[in-house]
Amino acid sequence: MFSILVLHGPNLNLLGLREPGIYGSVTLDNINRLLEQEAEALGVKISILQSNHEGVLVDAIHSTSDQHQGILINAGAYTHTSVAIRDAISGVNIPTVEVHLSNIYRREEFRHHSFIAPVAIGQISGFGKDSYILGLKAIVNYLQNRGG
Ligand code: DQA
Repeated sequence: MFSILVLHGPNLNLLGLREPGIYGSVTLDNINRLLEQEAEALGVKISILQSNHEGVLVDAIHSTSDQHQGILINAGAYTHTSVAIRDAISGVNIPTVEVHLSNIYRREEFRHHSFIAPVAIGQISGFGKDSYILGLKAIVNYLQNRGG
């Protein structure tokens, strides 16, 4: 059974309260519950971590090498700033899908660049909570096709 590491970056713990006009009223707990249901339906295991700290996210990515076959990540604002997270993903060489609730290309210019996109299989951006569900389906589909 594939095991996927789900990483939520900074400020995503505030979902539901944070800028509801952009991110909606869904909470991180709601999203995690939906992901767990989808994982069960897909027949995969997921481990979920949210952190506001770059180094914690880097350490979690390093831990994937022996525990997980794929990564689903919303790095939040670190998407646009973190060479360290990009290098960690590139270093462990584990297939990674990048997701965003909002469409980062319709927002401020500083959000248009992702350090993670070049080391990810692909990116899903703009579908709210469904970005995560689509992202989980995408990583599992990728692993299944690669295996077969
Ligand atoms: C985000 C988009 C980022 O630009 C922002 O900093 C976030 C959330 C999203 O899911 O839409 O924290 O990653």
